[in-house]
Amino acid sequence: MVAPLWLFLLCLTGGVLVHGQGTPDTTGFISIDCGLSEQSSYVDDASKLPYSSDDGFIDDGSNYNVSAEYTDKAYSRLYPQVLNLRSFPGPPGRRGCYTLSSFMAGTSKYMVRATFMYGNYDGLNKPPVFDLYLGVNFWKTVNISKPDMLDVGEIIAYIPGDSVQVCLVNTGSGTPFISSLELRPLKDTLYPLANLTQGLSLIGRYNFGGGDYVIRYPNDTYDRVWVPWTNQEWFTISTTMKVAMPVEDRRKPNYDVPSAVMQTAVTPRNTTKNVIWFPWTAQPNHAYPKPGLLPVLYFAEVELVDSKHERMFFVSAQRNSSWLLLGNFDYLVADVEYKDAPFPFVSPEDNYIMLKSANATALRPLFNINGTVLPPFINAAELFSPVSTADVGTDAQDVSAITAIKTKYQMKKNWVGDPCAPRTLVWDGLNCSYPISRPHRITSLNMSFGGLSGDISSYFANLRAIQYLDLSHNKLTGSIPDGLSQLPSLVLLDLTGNDLNGMIPFGLLIRIQDGNLTLRYEDNPNLCSNSSSCRPSKKNQNSKISTYIYVLIVAAVVVGGLVVLLLFLMRGNQVPTNQKNEEKVQTLSHNRRFTYTELKVIISNFQRVLGEGGFGLVFDGFLEDGIRVAVKLRSQSSNQGVREFLTEAQNLTGIHHRNLVTLIGYCNDGEYMALVYEHMSKGDLQDKLRGRDGSDGCLTWRQRVHIILESAQGLEYLHKACSPPFIHRDVKTSNILLDANLKAKVADFGLMRAFNHDGDTHVSTARVVGTPGYLAPEYATALELTEKSDVYSFGVVLLEVITGQPPFVQTPQAQPTHIIKWVQQRLSSGDIEGVVDACMQGEYDVNSVWKVADLALECTTRTPEQRPTMTRVVAQLLECLELEESRAILYTGCSSDPSSSSPMYATDQSSSSDVAHSSMGANSGRTSTMASGPAAR
Ligand SMILES: *[C@@H]1O[C@H](CO)[C@@H](O)[C@H](O)[C@H]1NC(C)=O
Ligand SMILES: *[C@@H]1O[C@H](CO)[C@@H](O)[C@H](O)[C@H]1NC(C)=O
Ligand SMILES: *[C@@H]1O[C@H](CO)[C@@H](O)[C@H](O)[C@H]1NC(C)=O
Ligand SMILES: *[C@@H]1O[C@H](CO)[C@@H](O)[C@H](O)[C@H]1NC(C)=O
Ligand SMILES: *[C@@H]1O[C@H](CO)[C@@H](O)[C@H](O)[C@H]1NC(C)=O
Ligand SMILES: *[C@@H]1O[C@H](CO)[C@@H](O)[C@H](O)[C@H]1NC(C)=O
Repeated sequence: MVAPLWLFLLCLTGGVLVHGQGTPDTTGFISIDCGLSEQSSYVDDASKLPYSSDDGFIDDGSNYNVSAEYTDKAYSRLYPQVLNLRSFPGPPGRRGCYTLSSFMAGTSKYMVRATFMYGNYDGLNKPPVFDLYLGVNFWKTVNISKPDMLDVGEIIAYIPGDSVQVCLVNTGSGTPFISSLELRPLKDTLYPLANLTQGLSLIGRYNFGGGDYVIRYPNDTYDRVWVPWTNQEWFTISTTMKVAMPVEDRRKPNYDVPSAVMQTAVTPRNTTKNVIWFPWTAQPNHAYPKPGLLPVLYFAEVELVDSKHERMFFVSAQRNSSWLLLGNFDYLVADVEYKDAPFPFVSPEDNYIMLKSANATALRPLFNINGTVLPPFINAAELFSPVSTADVGTDAQDVSAITAIKTKYQMKKNWVGDPCAPRTLVWDGLNCSYPISRPHRITSLNMSFGGLSGDISSYFANLRAIQYLDLSHNKLTGSIPDGLSQLPSLVLLDLTGNDLNGMIPFGLLIRIQDGNLTLRYEDNPNLCSNSSSCRPSKKNQNSKISTYIYVLIVAAVVVGGLVVLLLFLMRGNQVPTNQKNEEKVQTLSHNRRFTYTELKVIISNFQRVLGEGGFGLVFDGFLEDGIRVAVKLRSQSSNQGVREFLTEAQNLTGIHHRNLVTLIGYCNDGEYMALVYEHMSKGDLQDKLRGRDGSDGCLTWRQRVHIILESAQGLEYLHKACSPPFIHRDVKTSNILLDANLKAKVADFGLMRAFNHDGDTHVSTARVVGTPGYLAPEYATALELTEKSDVYSFGVVLLEVITGQPPFVQTPQAQPTHIIKWVQQRLSSGDIEGVVDACMQGEYDVNSVWKVADLALECTTRTPEQRPTMTRVVAQLLECLELEESRAILYTGCSSDPSSSSPMYATDQSSSSDVAHSSMGANSGRTSTMASGPAAR
């Protein structure tokens, strides 16, 4: 609304006019006199509304008074808010933003009004031009043409949140400033054209025939300012009677126009011309070069119309366009006319509202008009241009996070207003994504060389959509927040060149391991993952062994171990991300010896326990090269077998097989002993079979056969490749580990021996070690230990793999039954389906399952001599795998009853609950592919 100043000067003639008795509610009103000295406030004479200074709404810009020649003007009493102002010097693109907040609950429609009077406050006598935004949506261009001109921006908008920013943007044509800012909550039903995506920017609000005074609060409940308008062409008609609002309905919302406004109207003086004409002067701007018009016109008869007269006239909004034919208005009841779609902007000369009497001669037959047609009239009008408020701005969580970051590091730059919008004013260092009709997200943040000091704000971890975070080359101290690892999209974190300390958080190392995060952290002298630091000097270590290792390493390098060299060079720079853990493990030199302090770094100070093994806790960890490891730390309470452990650990490092978990190194540092193994990402077979690994997937039969075959190959190697045979002693499903591709590796071999060493022979041990349920009978009772004891335990593993049951099967009726007995009982009646893990849903080759079951029972025969060797087990399992792999081919077209081909099994009922006898031996009829073909399921 660009109101000529004379309108306001007019208002003075009667002095201050508003006398409020029983004034309407002002809850939610915000009235700011910008540029008023801090902490001050006053009650405005004209409106009787309290105005306050703008501290608390902004912390930017500086206060000025308008120059003396303008303070003395008449409007200083009527509108004292314009006498001082806040200005925002700076380069083009600089934003100054007020934050209006703490909105009333349940209100979402507001009128926001900003007033500008330049008054040559800066002595330059150059009124500026700048842009005004409501939140991130362009509102209007403020174009001050004269120092004493009052420019008022008013918008009626739907504000969904409980705060909104009003921003002034330097567009390169002078320094933005503001004189006052007001916010008024509106009833939701008012101005239905203002919705979530459309705001109404005021062109003018006129009280026709309205005497000398503006009408605003308290006569207007919402403090709309109705500017009186009369001229020589019109004469005023008026009433002293109150004008009522119409009964509200959907088509005619109640606009709550003050009666005082409706009590006056104008009508043409020249009854020959019979026209009321006034222009609408929407100012084109760069965002809306052709602003449209949304008119709201108000009519109420203020004089009684007798039966000899009729009111009927046309309304048009621009040349050659008629809009409405209006007639028959109620006496002293307001009528409102508005249009849903805006009139297009034509040209300043053609943009006008015209009310023109209808031709009575022409209309009489159509409308049965008897009397004389009266000239047109109008009581009030509001003219708006629609502006889009569809841009919802940046995600609220992103905004609060980046605001906290801005505050913490006292960021100046252009960090004002919305971080991502408008797109021309994105904060320095930020990149955003702009999903359609959803909030913008911050996707990258570059604060490098920003002079940041202090620790890394935990608010970085609230930028949930961030992909690139660059904090390099600052003075950041403290540790890296673990929360950063929770950022789902983070692909690059650059912490280079700071003074960070502590460990790299576990979660980040895991992300690096997963291959989708690159972490840069060179030049942080105190950061622990630098191989150079946080490790104690190595002088108090067993010098022989370390020298030996160094010699080995040096030799490897010299001999041309380029890989090793590369790995060492890469340390402390960038964690390589693209290599699989298994491949990386292969490149390691084994038999490495770690100090306890090194271990603590590797397992990030005991941050993550993987599980509890036979001799202590197992921790998750990372070597400095990003290789993920499992560290088994011997519990301190036991000091048995220290020497043996050491010898064994060194022996074990010589055992390599693709189906044995690789021992990378060990630690023997004071009372601390630990073994460092390669990490197996899919956990152990027991958890997988019991569905405890967090996935609800069920291993297929094919996967199961692969797993047991590979485990068998690992055990076979232990038995065959070592002399004397290396007995595992604790074969069980929880000692069969799975890597990312579900490849199985046997773990924990040799440990039992290490801790219970009893001499050179493997025939007997001083006490039983192992796990109940897996113990071979001869070992459990007579402490006789051979490799056949492992075969027995492996038989139990096979049964678990078939059935998915634990070694002691819980039965509803009775005591837990040992799995061997449980399976024998069912197989004796040929019921293989009742034994097989139900989660496979029948998807398996029956013969293959039978064959594994036979093998399992053979392995668990009471007499060790009758058990097969692991070599034979491997051969049998290979056949089982073949059966399953060719199932698809064999399956086509063939079917037969499985029971018809099942031999009868006799169950040995005399077997003990734990250790079952088996008489099956190798005589099963299912060891070869059956002629009858596989069973139908
Ligand atoms: C807002 O009103 C405009 C004009 O009537 C309409 O085009 C738009 O779809 C409305 N938006 C919403 C969110 O209702
Ligand atoms: C405004 O309202 C007050 C109190 O309701 C009333 O006394 C006053 O006459 C009104 N002003 C006009 C111009 O009608
Ligand atoms: C009234 O309007 C007519 C038609 O435009 C014009 O000829 C006439 O001079 C006007 N009368 C006055 C008093 O302005
Ligand atoms: C009014 O309408 C009649 C009939 O259509 C026409 O003859 C006459 O010229 C019109 N008068 C004016 C002033 O337009
Ligand atoms: C026209 O005049 C007749 C009698 O003079 C009256 O009864 C009728 O109501 C009038 N029509 C209108 C529309 O006023
Ligand atoms: C990173 O990898 C993990 C595990 O593979 C996955 O859950 C996560 O969604 C990945 N993140 C990205 C950004 O790709």
